[in-house]
Amino acid sequence: MELFLILSLASCAMSVGVVYLPKDMLLSWKFPTPGSVAFELRVPQVLYDEYGYVGLGFKYTDDISGMYYADLINIKFNQPIEDCYGTKNTVPRPDVSLGGTSDLINPRTDVTADGLKITWERAMKTEDCSNDMEFEDGAEYRLLWAAGFMDEVTGEQLRHSTKDRGTINIKLTEDFYNAQYKPFIVSSFN
Ligand code: HEM
Repeated sequence: MELFLILSLASCAMSVGVVYLPKDMLLSWKFPTPGSVAFELRVPQVLYDEYGYVGLGFKYTDDISGMYYADLINIKFNQPIEDCYGTKNTVPRPDVSLGGTSDLINPRTDVTADGLKITWERAMKTEDCSNDMEFEDGAEYRLLWAAGFMDEVTGEQLRHSTKDRGTINIKLTEDFYNAQYKPFIVSSFN
């Protein structure tokens, strides 16, 4: 009985996809239903204190580089998160400004003891197929990430620097785990 409990707890703990991102960000996901995916992005306090936005994007792994054609999530701090699209290497365009729809379900930002917890869900396949990536359980995607600043006078979103953006390939499964960028602490006695 105890073994059963331990095994089922372990399998529960593992049924979430996880990718550690640079700057100590952590993205995880699960499939609440076969037709939907729920994401959670953790942003550490230092990033929240110093920067003005973070963003994520999805593309196919063989797509051309850059923000072109990326299905973007634009997270300007202290503003509602936006379902966006990358028309070129510049400020993400909200899907609604391109004739599409906002398809983020239950978007929510919580300020936690150690930063921000941003959660949202979406259908694996939305009706807004020109601006939203069609997700498939088990498929590979190129995940884009960035962190940048806002212009304090105009409120505009500024271009991130090249060190503050990058890409990493992920597999959209509930057992995906990539700890390449997991932060670690080395003892000062070493
Ligand atoms: C959701 C927010 C954003 C994300 C996730 C994002 C992500 C990225 C990534 C990953 C790249 C490199 C692509 C590659 O190497 O394949 C890139 C390039 C670029 N982005 Fe963004 N970006 C965001 C917002 C912005 C904004 C607000 C601007 C300008 C106002 C911008 C301007 C550029 C430019 C000019 C480049 C080409 C130069 C470079 O590679 O750094 N981006 N972006």
